[in-house]
Amino acid sequence: MTDTTTAFDQNTLEYDQWFEKHSAVYQSEILAIQQAIPQNKKGIEIGVGTGRFAEPLKIKFGVEPSENMAKFAEQRGIKVYRAFAENLPIDNATFDFVLMVTTVCFLSDIPKAFSEVHRILKPNGEIILAIIDKNSELGRKYEKEKSSNKFYSNAHFHSTEELTALLQQSRFQNFQYWQTLTSLKENEIEKPEKGYGQGSFVVIKANIV
Ligand SMILES: C[S@@+](CC[C@H](N)C(=O)[O-])C[C@H]1O[C@@H](n2cnc3c(N)ncnc32)[C@H](O)[C@@H]1O
Repeated sequence: MTDTTTAFDQNTLEYDQWFEKHSAVYQSEILAIQQAIPQNKKGIEIGVGTGRFAEPLKIKFGVEPSENMAKFAEQRGIKVYRAFAENLPIDNATFDFVLMVTTVCFLSDIPKAFSEVHRILKPNGEIILAIIDKNSELGRKYEKEKSSNKFYSNAHFHSTEELTALLQQSRFQNFQYWQTLTSLKENEIEKPEKGYGQGSFVVIKANIV
């Protein structure tokens, strides 16, 4: 267990219930990620948490270092590898796509994790990152209130541009972006838009070179 997983391991139910209390935000985020998910392909979510995204997105595999988070995801029908993104117990060229939802900000070594993602992807495989953009309204709020948030106190937020550059360095190409949560209205489900710069929640998709 590391500092980036302990809070999730010790407060799993609280984390999971957040999505019920903020159901319009959750639905907006699902709609945005759905834009990027390829149909009828074998995918895995790294940092799958309790499976709140993998389940509705019909992703059958996950990676999760927190035992308690992993157990919740298993109850949602997901096969979970207990592991860190930086060292995946998965064979080369196994998956068509890899998803990470608000997990990159917890990684201890992003280039190593991206290299692992590259390794487990099949030819033309895709990486899909969903992030809270550091340069957005919500990103600035989370950064400011970080120390008092048990889940995000150890997070390192990134901008869409920073992650694009890191992905390019890890030999990913053909970038596509979608965004949502352009206004922080808690009770409205938002339709996602292409691009980034307006929304607090950004989905980045690229494929391997
Ligand atoms: C904010 S939660 C996101 C969970 C899920 N993707 C969701 O959106 O509900 C971040 C997750 O990343 C996991 N995590 C932290 N460090 C990790 C690492 N190095 N590799 C993989 N997962 C990690 C945590 O245990 C936690 O479940």
